[in-house]
Amino acid sequence: MHPKLTLTRKSQQIENLVLINSGNDTYPPGLFTKAEKEYIRIQKAVYKKDLVTIDRLDFRIFIYFPKPGQDQYKRLEECRKAGDKVACCLNDQRENKVVIYDTGGEHEEILAFAEGMALGSYQFLKYKSENKKENSLKEIQICSSVIEESRIERVNILTDAVCRCRTLINEPNSYLTASAFSKEVGKIAKECNAKVEVMNRNKIEALQMGGILGVNKGSGEPPTFTIMEWKPPAARNKNPVILVGKGIVFDSGGMNLKPGSTMQDMKDDMSGAAAVAAAIYAIAKAGLPVYIIGLMPATDNRPGPNAIVPGDVIRMQNGMNVEIVDTDAEGRLILADALSYARKFKPDLVIDLATLTGSAVRAVGKTAAVVMQSKAEKELIELRNSGFEVYERLVELPMWDDYADLLKSEVADIKNVGPPEAGSITAAKFLEKFTDFPYIHLDIAGPAFSDKRDSYRGQGGTGFGVRLLFNFITKITCH
Ligand code: BES
Ligand code: ZN
Ligand code: ZN
Repeated sequence: MHPKLTLTRKSQQIENLVLINSGNDTYPPGLFTKAEKEYIRIQKAVYKKDLVTIDRLDFRIFIYFPKPGQDQYKRLEECRKAGDKVACCLNDQRENKVVIYDTGGEHEEILAFAEGMALGSYQFLKYKSENKKENSLKEIQICSSVIEESRIERVNILTDAVCRCRTLINEPNSYLTASAFSKEVGKIAKECNAKVEVMNRNKIEALQMGGILGVNKGSGEPPTFTIMEWKPPAARNKNPVILVGKGIVFDSGGMNLKPGSTMQDMKDDMSGAAAVAAAIYAIAKAGLPVYIIGLMPATDNRPGPNAIVPGDVIRMQNGMNVEIVDTDAEGRLILADALSYARKFKPDLVIDLATLTGSAVRAVGKTAAVVMQSKAEKELIELRNSGFEVYERLVELPMWDDYADLLKSEVADIKNVGPPEAGSITAAKFLEKFTDFPYIHLDIAGPAFSDKRDSYRGQGGTGFGVRLLFNFITKITCH
């Protein structure tokens, strides 16, 4: 388990301490000797250190100096990263508690620092039987006379949600089949009092969801379609906001088998669905007054005796016929059925999250997600702002109709893949065909997963999207 934040109003100075100092150089009275103060000053001024450590006999003091002159969001991100650094150090030392001491004023920085510490201490150890070095840090105590309890609680809810998302992503397909995914979402929903419904193969067939069934044809496991709903009596919106998540529990490419090592991390292809479940979990736990629904279609994508092949034509839930050009473009097929299904709710807004294209990774790397919208220009501006605030940043690509022309098919209504260029845009244009509502598409193929440790984002599933969606939903419901 990752560490939890607690709050105390009483000052304690005999434990591991963190002080965040933005330049006023005020320290708790009596904490440092004159010589120590001079040491800190020199480390900062002469050696340009932004993190200084003072060792006491049985505890440590970390003094962090956020860099001046940066924009506020970058500054908070640096605090999260510094929090991760300190957490690594404390875990190495087998310490289980740290106190972040509010020396007056830097509340955003303190909370960001604590968030980085908590998220950086996440581990996925389920399959380690030897050398299972569990992190020791259990408690991050904030010592402040002014920070509200509710803000601490919010960080706890969010870090918990992000860690749940990461674990879902990190679970390999040997455990996490589509059915197992649905069960896990069921457990998550129960813990936050959200409603959940799992549609099985029969129901998916009855709804004629040809996209999901088509991708599932090569699999030995049945598909699922999980619906999670949070509808508090005080909801501000009459029609729901809907989140749709790509739930490909493993993407081999299907008959267009992925070559070489490109298949390696494809257990992460359900990161969108995991982020949707975890974001609604956080929203429900925090009791946000919003009516929100999550739609999570799930299956693996494999070659099998009955697998769809290039040239096949499949009939989607909304009656459209799709020519399959490449079975590796499977995400858009399952998402399209979920989007068609979303129409019946007459949603105010639909946002989908999907590890959809390598093209998005080539465009912006692992640093950001690619985003596009249709009929949701204003909502996208808000979402992009949320992206800067939580540092899950979004880069917008155009949704011009020229790109839709690239999906014209000779034999069916549309084909599932266009030319090699502009791959993430044509994927979004494909999905747009199944919408008639304000719609935002997030391609998180880059930032969803990291094969090496990336500061507080960790290694493996990063949980990208959870903090973003939570921040965005908070903003649109509680302004
Ligand atoms: N799941 C992949 C996209 C992906 C790539 C996710 C890299 C994470 C990292 C998706 O299903 C896929 O295979 N897309 C193809 C589409 C192509 C066949 C048009 C791609 O991007 O190569
Ligand atoms: Zn694929
Ligand atoms: Zn995929």
